[in-house]
Amino acid sequence: MARFLINSRRRDLPDWSAPELAFTGLIRRRAQLPLHQALPGYAPTPLRDLPGLAAELGLGRLLVKDESGRFGIEAFKGLGASFAMYVVVRERWFEATGRQLRPEEFADPRVRAILRPVTFTAATDGNHGRAVAWTARQLGQPAVIFMPQDTAPARIGHIEREGAQVRLVAGTFDDCVAACAAAAAAEGWQVIADTAYRGYLEIPGFIMTGYSTIFVELTAQLDTVPDVLLLPVGVGGLAAAGAVHCVQRHGAARPRLVCVEPEDSACFLDSLEIGDGEPHAARGRQQSVMAGLNCGVPSLLAWPVVRDAVDVFLAVEDRWAEKAMRAHHRHGVTSGESGAATLAGLLALLQAPELAPARDHLGLGPHTSVLVINTEGATDPQNWARVTAAAEGMP
Ligand SMILES: Cc1ncc(COP(=O)(O)O)c(C=O)c1O
Repeated sequence: MARFLINSRRRDLPDWSAPELAFTGLIRRRAQLPLHQALPGYAPTPLRDLPGLAAELGLGRLLVKDESGRFGIEAFKGLGASFAMYVVVRERWFEATGRQLRPEEFADPRVRAILRPVTFTAATDGNHGRAVAWTARQLGQPAVIFMPQDTAPARIGHIEREGAQVRLVAGTFDDCVAACAAAAAAEGWQVIADTAYRGYLEIPGFIMTGYSTIFVELTAQLDTVPDVLLLPVGVGGLAAAGAVHCVQRHGAARPRLVCVEPEDSACFLDSLEIGDGEPHAARGRQQSVMAGLNCGVPSLLAWPVVRDAVDVFLAVEDRWAEKAMRAHHRHGVTSGESGAATLAGLLALLQAPELAPARDHLGLGPHTSVLVINTEGATDPQNWARVTAAAEGMP
């Protein structure tokens, strides 16, 4: 059964003035853009209009922001890792030289020659680790990436091909976060985590700031503001970046925001159901095929932002992700399991009888325009081929 929660904590204008939420100010100032524009291979990702799928689904319009080609690493994650690692390098450069590092100097070999070597490390279900390894390779620095031991071999291979060392951990993504933090403390490595936890709050803010480039690009690409925007949720970083952008730009008139999680690791929905305003561990086993969303604990920085800005939370079973991968494929979009999560949420909203109250709350129908984000391409090509070749079953 899919689940939903209509968020009674949503505010038209949430208060994000707490000092630890300073990243919301960076997003407002678009602090990450000069770096991204200086990176080799940067180009806005396409916004695709899918009139055929919109008609099939009985919607006015369906738009897909397609991140599957971002920087050639098949997911949006390079936006976050690159900006966070730039800030780290910039600080080290200032300490060494007393001079500001310009964005175009980020990967300059002359900068590398002056800086002390640094080993970057991260925990990942795939895409974030690949993004950290990709950035570290451009900087000529080593990276050590911690992954759950049941990760698809293709995803491990992508990271190793960036020259990083992969360490497999018996357990979940959250066990990898702990193993990464412990190893970094012992070895003096630089952690680049996409999730904020007690004692580690700064870098995830830069990562979320990096993600906000997606929404800056959308502002230029959209001719009208969509009625509904679906955002995928693992630790909540991307959803927080989207929510901040929408609140800052549109205030109370923002699109209705919907967060989509796997039923098996719905840490935001589960936390809101508990209802004390605090983040809690997910009730599920974190075994979803939506590997990038298999996160058992909300990021401490993303939590208050998402909690106060989002209209509806959904938790969907894996079969919706597989249906969404096939629907994307039929309409020319390559989308992996996690990448398809927002379309999965939309399909469930429109087709699962138990979600009818959420559908009504959002006003979904023939006059509604909906925006989803395809956050990932076929990062596990074998499973993608299996899923997209399968016949469509009953919903
Ligand atoms: C493809 C994909 N989509 C969505 C997400 C969710 O992002 P976040 O963990 O910031 O909520 C991830 C996270 O790794 C991902 O890899």
